[in-house]
Amino acid sequence: MKKTILVTGGTSGMGKAMALALKEAGWNVVVTGRDAERLQQTDLDLQQIAGEHAVIQMDVRDPEACLAAVNQTRARFGRLEALINNAAGNFICPTDELSPNGWKTVVDIVLNGTFNCSHALVKGWQEDQVVGGQILNIVASYAWQAGAGVAPSAAAKAGVLNLTRTLAVEWGYKYQARVNAISPGPIERTGGADKLAMSPEHAERIRRNVPLGRFGTPEEIAGLAVWMLSDQAGYLNGECIALDGGHWLNKQPF
Ligand code: COA
Repeated sequence: MKKTILVTGGTSGMGKAMALALKEAGWNVVVTGRDAERLQQTDLDLQQIAGEHAVIQMDVRDPEACLAAVNQTRARFGRLEALINNAAGNFICPTDELSPNGWKTVVDIVLNGTFNCSHALVKGWQEDQVVGGQILNIVASYAWQAGAGVAPSAAAKAGVLNLTRTLAVEWGYKYQARVNAISPGPIERTGGADKLAMSPEHAERIRRNVPLGRFGTPEEIAGLAVWMLSDQAGYLNGECIALDGGHWLNKQPF
């Protein structure tokens, strides 16, 4: 029987590439996002691939909306096995100029949103007796390094990385679930690239800082996600894989 996966923030960039690739790989795919127009376009794009899918408008900051999305998915596909916590929010702002609400907004999306969706998912697992479910989180190397200029995102991603490891143990024992993370480096055609590369010159500096000398692609991230969620990776649990051309290892800025 086909398995079902829900991808948050799946209407653009890496989220959309993962949703498309997972449908190609035979999953039932449910995409959530906040923007109705983008959801409509994603619906059309997913229609080009054989199989079943659905799109749901929701904000990961709202725990009730997350539970409703999980329950809607279970009603449509019978059960929900897997989740990609991809939805994120970020902006560059020196921490001494950041407002408390700016901090809260990013932490709410990235850390609390990941909890809200994971918690809703496990309620579905309990009701449907799902064994061997999965969660894939998207982090960033500043989850374990400094994130100067992006403090709320860095602190939140550090929390998500810890939650990845914690749930890998808790829910590994309890539900034989696998919980893993991807740490993408600079990836082209993403919200992150648009927001964090402030000018063509800045983007060029980032590119030169990647040992492989280029940005990654959303399709490369999607390929890794498909593998991590497959039975071939059935012994992978609590792991974070950096797919970044060696970017985070490079300690020489330029
Ligand atoms: N610099 C400083 N503060 C900022 C900011 C910036 N560039 N952008 C937003 N903020 C602050 C706002 O001023 C506000 O705080 P205030 O009430 O004290 O003024 C707070 O953040 C919330 O902003 P708001 O625009 O109401 O939030 P939102 O929920 O509409 O948007 C964001 C959330 C800001 C994260 C928005 O960029 C977003 O939705 N991004 C999603 C896509 C994304 O970021 N992708 C990249 C992922 S790496």
